[in-house]
Amino acid sequence: MHRIIIDGDPGHDDILAFLVALAHPEEIEILAYTTVVGNARVEDCSRNVLKVQDYFGIQIPVAQGYDQPLTRELHLAGQFHGPSGLDGAPFLIPSKRKVEGKHAIEYLKDILEKSEQKVEIVSMGPLTNIAMLIKTYPQVIDKIERLIMMGGCFSLGNALAKSEFNIFHDPEAAKIVFDSPLKIVMAGIESCFAGSILLKDIEELKPEGRATYLLKSILTFYSQYAYKNNWDRIPIFDVTPIMYLLKPEIFREEEYHVEVEIKGELTLGMTVCDQRGPVYLPVVENPKKVLMDCDREEFSREFFASFRRLDER
Ligand code: BDR
Ligand code: CA
Repeated sequence: MHRIIIDGDPGHDDILAFLVALAHPEEIEILAYTTVVGNARVEDCSRNVLKVQDYFGIQIPVAQGYDQPLTRELHLAGQFHGPSGLDGAPFLIPSKRKVEGKHAIEYLKDILEKSEQKVEIVSMGPLTNIAMLIKTYPQVIDKIERLIMMGGCFSLGNALAKSEFNIFHDPEAAKIVFDSPLKIVMAGIESCFAGSILLKDIEELKPEGRATYLLKSILTFYSQYAYKNNWDRIPIFDVTPIMYLLKPEIFREEEYHVEVEIKGELTLGMTVCDQRGPVYLPVVENPKKVLMDCDREEFSREFFASFRRLDER
C-alpha cells in the first residue's frame, strides 16, 4: 500500500491524477492534499480540489501552501487551465468546505511526525512547499520514503525550450529539493509525452457516469492546446507519477546526477541530467531516478479504466 500526500496546483491534469489515485484505494491511500501556487492562484487551486471532492462526496484534508515562488515573479498557466485553473467544468459547485487551519508545511510536518511509517510525497506542481518543508523542518526528511514528482526534463521543455513549467516556476525551490538527501523519482516531460492520450480516444469517450462525465469535460477543455499544436495526442502530465506508483513496470527509468539551473538565460529551471561516465563523475551521491519512457497503450488503458471504476462506485 502506498501512503501518499499529494502536493499540487490543480489544474486539469492535477485533478485527473488525484482521481486516478482515488480509483485505486487498495493500492493508494491519500492522507492529504496540499496546494501550491502554479497553474493558478493558490486559493483557486484549493477551491478546485475541494469542489471536485464534493462532486464525489469525499473528504480528504486540503491544506493550503505558498502563494508565491521563493524569489521569482508569478507565471500562472491560464492559457492551458483558464483563470480558475479548472475551466471547462461549470457544473462543479463551489464547496462550503474550508481548507485546514494550518499552512501546508505545518500540516505536512504534523502528518509526517505523527506517522509511524514513512510516507511518499507525490508532487505535481512547483516545489515551493516541499523546499520550505525540508528547509524549515529537516527532521521530517527521514519520514519521507521518497518524492515522486512530475517536473523537469531530460532534454525537452515547455515553459522554455529546455525547461519544464513546475521547475521553471520556482527554480530556487527545485534546487533546494534536488540538493537535499530526499530520494527522488523524476517524472519529467519525456515520460509524460510517452504516456500521451490520443485525441481520438478523448473524442470517442462516452460518459457513463459522474467520473467519465467529468473526465470528458476536463479533457475537452485541456486538449485545446494539442489541437492548436496539430498534435494527435496529449500528455496528461501529472497522472504520470501516480501511474508510476500503480504500474512501475510500464516505465523505463535511468539514474542520473541532476542539477537545477537557476541562472541560465535560456535554460532557467532546466534539470541538467549528467550523462558523463565515471571518469568525470567518479561518485554520484543520491542519484535521481529519471523516468525516460513508458508503454503508451498500457498507460492509456489504465487511465481510462480508472474513471470507469469510479463510475461504478
Ligand atoms: C506541469 O505544469 C502544469 O501546467 C501541469 O499541471 C503540470 O504539473 C507540466 O509541465
Ligand atoms: Ca500541476
